[in-house]
Amino acid sequence: GHNNLNAKLVLLGDMGAGKSSLVLRFVKGQFLEFQESTIGAAFFSQTLAVNDATVKFEIWDTAGQERYHSLAPMYYRGAAAAIIVYDITSTESFARAKKWVQELQKQGNPNMVMALAGNKADLEDKRKVTAEEARVYAEENGLFFTETSAKTAVNVNDTFYEIGITIIPL
Ligand code: GTP
Ligand code: MG
Repeated sequence: GHNNLNAKLVLLGDMGAGKSSLVLRFVKGQFLEFQESTIGAAFFSQTLAVNDATVKFEIWDTAGQERYHSLAPMYYRGAAAAIIVYDITSTESFARAKKWVQELQKQGNPNMVMALAGNKADLEDKRKVTAEEARVYAEENGLFFTETSAKTAVNVNDTFYEIGITIIPL
């Protein structure tokens, strides 16, 4: 039908934040305790039913290691949506997420839907970034905000669903 659309989506964030794990959870329903660090970027696609429509996400899972930073524009250019991932147990990863948001605000598609995901929400006892400070930051910058766990699956599908709802034309 006319309500099927393809949407390029990019995941950005510090190394180890859990970008690949979120994608693996969303696309395959799996989680690996020893997920390998991404080299360059990896591509996945997954179709999601959203109301009467289907959204085929074309997902670029980028590498968080600093040496790959210069490749990022290839992946966020033309993207309809971005998920910026940090690890709730790492203040450095939250700082890095803010840097990605700044870069997207400057160089990204101005209509890009952005979601901030505080991942590893299952590690509550090791938390360093409060949900409140992230929520305030997200609100100030016009981002969706959720805390996710690729391990337990909490809020993973919901994050993609929210993005899907937002990018489907009315
Ligand atoms: P780069 O590819 O290096 O940029 O890292 P990444 O952001 O893709 O992180 P990755 O998915 O490789 O996850 C890093 C480590 O964190 C792995 O050992 C995962 O098992 C673990 N991990 C990812 N998500 C979660 C989570 O929600 N909870 C817990 N407890 N561990 C997680
Ligand atoms: Mg990765």
